[in-house]
Amino acid sequence: MPVVSHEVHPLFAEPYFRANIGGSITAEQIKFIQGLKMVNNMENLISENLYIFQEPELKSIGDAVQEVLDIYARDVLCIPQKLYVTQSWSLICKPGIGMHGHSHSNSILSGSLYYAPLPSPPSGMVFTRHVSYQQIDLPPAAEKRNVFNTPITRVIPKQNDVILFSSRLTHLVEQNQSDAPRHSIAFNTFVRGKLGNYRAVTELAL
Ligand SMILES: [Fe+2]
Repeated sequence: MPVVSHEVHPLFAEPYFRANIGGSITAEQIKFIQGLKMVNNMENLISENLYIFQEPELKSIGDAVQEVLDIYARDVLCIPQKLYVTQSWSLICKPGIGMHGHSHSNSILSGSLYYAPLPSPPSGMVFTRHVSYQQIDLPPAAEKRNVFNTPITRVIPKQNDVILFSSRLTHLVEQNQSDAPRHSIAFNTFVRGKLGNYRAVTELAL
């Protein structure tokens, strides 16, 4: 055997983050969110209000999401700047409906919050590694997928989960295979604080 040994190591890794904020969501808030006016959004329904965390009725949820963002900035990104929610909206995927692949512009991290009971079977959020057409497509067999070679990663949400992911990642929502609507909230974020360096003329105060 000419190969005496071999190793594989990660160069970089792409996280998604999951936090449970069940203690901050009340039955009244679920009712409030589900009572918001919804409008058509190609496939699914989206709230007309696109800043729902600014509603006083949802303050405890907005505060909990801010805490999740603070943990992510401190423990995952390890940055001194602060992440904050920009737009926030609610979504409904009716039975048979999913959401095509997309990513979120003008945002650093995006998140989903599964504030209400999820239908069964739960439709997953699917993240795709490639963001553009692949002329050469060499996926491994499904049972051989690992973090180095998988073209997709499927995330199954649970009620009360906040899921955070990089806004540039392409993701889709699987078709709702149940006979009940799938409720969620989505939000975008940006960063506040000082970036760069004064002497290097890269300073940016946000
Ligand atoms: Fe999205």
